[in-house]
Amino acid sequence: MISRSVAENLTKASWIRRMFEEGARLKQERGPDKIFDFTLGNPEIEPPPAVLAAARRVLESKEPHLHAYMPNAGHPKVREAVAKRVSAATGLPYTANHILMTVGAGAALNTVLKALLNPGDEVMTVAPFFVEYVYYAENHGGRLVVVQPKSDLTPDIAKLEAAITPKTRAIIVNSPNNPSGVIYPKSTFVELEALLGRATQPIVVISDEPYRALVFDDVEVPEVPPLVTRSIIATSWSKSLAIPGERIGYLAFSPRMPEAAALFEACTFTSRVLGFVNAPALWQWVVAEVGEQVIDVAPYREKRDLMYEGLTRIGYECVKPQGAFYVFPRTPIPDDVAFVRMLAEEGVLTVPGSGFGMPGHIRISLTVERDSVVRALPGFERAFRAARAARA
Ligand SMILES: Cc1ncc(COP(=O)(O)O)c(C=O)c1O
Repeated sequence: MISRSVAENLTKASWIRRMFEEGARLKQERGPDKIFDFTLGNPEIEPPPAVLAAARRVLESKEPHLHAYMPNAGHPKVREAVAKRVSAATGLPYTANHILMTVGAGAALNTVLKALLNPGDEVMTVAPFFVEYVYYAENHGGRLVVVQPKSDLTPDIAKLEAAITPKTRAIIVNSPNNPSGVIYPKSTFVELEALLGRATQPIVVISDEPYRALVFDDVEVPEVPPLVTRSIIATSWSKSLAIPGERIGYLAFSPRMPEAAALFEACTFTSRVLGFVNAPALWQWVVAEVGEQVIDVAPYREKRDLMYEGLTRIGYECVKPQGAFYVFPRTPIPDDVAFVRMLAEEGVLTVPGSGFGMPGHIRISLTVERDSVVRALPGFERAFRAARAARA
């Protein structure tokens, strides 16, 4: 009954899912207060009150047709408001016809990949990466090609260049990165633009940036469109407003891109026929009004500091995350899956780096209470020492 490809993907089963199930078992066995679950990237906080108030206003409004169908790309007024913000951030002349409202960033990526890919085409990305990219590329007959990063977990442009083939259609970059929290510097995009200039076919950079607003330490997240001619932003308010369940995001096609109008038209069609039809009307109105709001990032910064400093004191090697809400340390033994099991024995649940194209690491999600970070560190220490002792 089930298609071969889906059946195959199901047997591979996501690591996050597996750890979630393992966690449920351990919680039942030992009691939920003894288990520290760092597996899911689901914001634990509530949306800003202004966001909920705006949603209430839309629901109570007597204006007609607020909840009706609209142009498939989204309400023109909403797209205008988003275009204004993207223009202000990038200094480029985005209009409503460069913005397509989507059902979150996941739908944004699928919508654009469907518009771009012919069977067998390749989409490149840099490890570590959001594992759904594999399936998103496959959804549209494509194949994800994963390129290993430099030791600081930023893209290795020479390796990217070596991996380009006549079938390469797009490169997905994700900064601030899930799972590493690393922010790619401006030089990455300057080098990427030079590389694309040397390529023999047009290749588009898809900048997947749902974590853009979650940044610590006054670090700037470079705007991609001023640096890369052929760029498309795929993003959402899932993380910046802590509303991942509401499914609202957008695609922004750079006005610098010769194919912008054609891509906008193609994606308006693909978004419709993928069955999204349009992004949720209620949340379009909300983000048009209060989309510039951002959750308070201070608690995430504090948990990042506690976890990063705690782990490095124990002896873990780790690139310091500057954004998003993850920490991605190296494991003390090369087998990350075995190490995840050792941590689970200590009541600490994490996800193996193998699930993000980078074995020898674990992902720790900081969408937990501060207290859990503090109380889990001794478990991180015991597992570290046990792994080192077993190796010696
Ligand atoms: C890197 C990355 N891209 C895309 C998404 C999908 O975001 P959304 O919930 O807006 O579809 C996520 C969600 O965790 C993510 O981490």
